Amino acid sequence: MLFKFVRNFVVLAAAISMAVSAVPATADCDTDNAVPFYRSYSNQATDHFYTTNYAEMDNAITNISYAFEGNMGLVFRDPTVSTALLYRLYSSPSTDHFYTTNQAEADNAVKNLDYNDEGTAGYVYTTQICASIPLYRLYSAGAVDHFYTTNETEREYAIAHLGYSDEGIACYVLPSL
Ligand SMILES: *[C@@H]1O[C@H](CO)[C@@H](O)[C@H](O)[C@H]1NC(C)=O
Ligand SMILES: *[C@@H]1O[C@H](CO)[C@@H](O)[C@H](O)[C@H]1NC(C)=O
Repeated sequence: MLFKFVRNFVVLAAAISMAVSAVPATADCDTDNAVPFYRSYSNQATDHFYTTNYAEMDNAITNISYAFEGNMGLVFRDPTVSTALLYRLYSSPSTDHFYTTNQAEADNAVKNLDYNDEGTAGYVYTTQICASIPLYRLYSAGAVDHFYTTNETEREYAIAHLGYSDEGIACYVLPSL
């Protein structure tokens, strides 16, 4: 009797945990290694470029053609149980920085679309946990530019007037302070 109860309970618990499987039971909301995801844009290259590395951003602004545009929230420097790797890719012929948490998509971009693997941009949430906000992903085929923003007004404007198409939510980031 007790055994049956325990077994049924285990089956039920497993069913419940499968229903919410994407999110670990206890999200790790530690913000100790959260860092700004700096954003810049080059008119000349029609390229949005994002990095957590301040020196790299400084170089892009000082020595290349990029203009600083603040940051798009906070991402994590180190992985936790609640984060996923955000891949960073770059196409030299298209001067396009491309970011995705989807490994198959990253692999495809390298194999078939002339992108180079530039490693890890940071670690991000793939679901909306820990008071995070969506980082929207947009793409302009005309400019060959991937554009990421947390700003919904800006997103709507880019879709309505700047030739970008809606590519959904890239990931979730912490709002900047
Ligand atoms: C700009 O480029 C020069 C020459 O490569 C380099 O010494 C300098 O550190 C760069 N500036 C920044 C801000 O990275
Ligand atoms: C969002 O974008 C709009 C349009 O570009 C801008 O006016 C506004 O200041 C932005 N909001 C924030 C919080 O940056």
